[in-house]
Amino acid sequence: MSPASSLAARLREATWAAHEQAADDGFLAGLLRGTRDTRDYARLASQHLVAYRALEAAIASCDRGLVAALHDPALERLAAVETDLAALGGAQAPTDASLAYAEHLASLADDPVRLAAHHYTRYLGDLSGGQHIGRVLSRRFGADTTAFYRFDIDDLDAFKDGYRATISGFELEAADESALLAETASAYASAEAMHASLVDGEPGSRVAA
Ligand code: HEM
Repeated sequence: MSPASSLAARLREATWAAHEQAADDGFLAGLLRGTRDTRDYARLASQHLVAYRALEAAIASCDRGLVAALHDPALERLAAVETDLAALGGAQAPTDASLAYAEHLASLADDPVRLAAHHYTRYLGDLSGGQHIGRVLSRRFGADTTAFYRFDIDDLDAFKDGYRATISGFELEAADESALLAETASAYASAEAMHASLVDGEPGSRVAA
């Protein structure tokens, strides 16, 4: 089987444009470039708190199908984001976009295919571009604020290869594959909306460029 015909390859190919749109993110770019401050980073981590709490609760109650095959407790981020927020001075308010995202995730607790789309978008992203983001944020805000980006996994590339092999080896009906692809595109859009909801922020939360 050629790599292009595997489900993991089809998933990446079908949703890469959505990835590029989500990655072209003014809020994140500002954090990475240094035009946003600690409070902005705390605001982002606070959105992660709400989203990962909902994601991980849904995963815990959906112990079957593709999402259960993909899940590994080493991926769970809730405790890490709580640690980071303690170092950042505590959680801040979730935005409407983050609350809508969390509500949507909670609604998928009985849908292992669509929930797997969010599992992939969040965790494989955290293990990919998230590693670069974490290194930059660590330098800017201190390693004690970036536990979220560090995984207790020895070989991230091998782990990601195994993750993709699990996706590709899972027998999905055509309708389920379509649902997986469509929900992944929507997961990227939710991440984008969550970041966009932080752009304006509260007055004074942005430092001079
Ligand atoms: C500054 C923003 C971002 C950068 C620089 C970035 C960068 C990257 C890079 C270089 C890869 C490929 C890594 C590899 O093949 O091992 C990747 C993969 C990925 N990213 Fe991002 N990313 C960003 C934002 C995001 C966002 C916001 C999400 C979703 C919330 C996301 C989700 C993913 C996923 C799911 C993959 C794995 C795709 C696959 O191989 O199937 N990324 N990212």
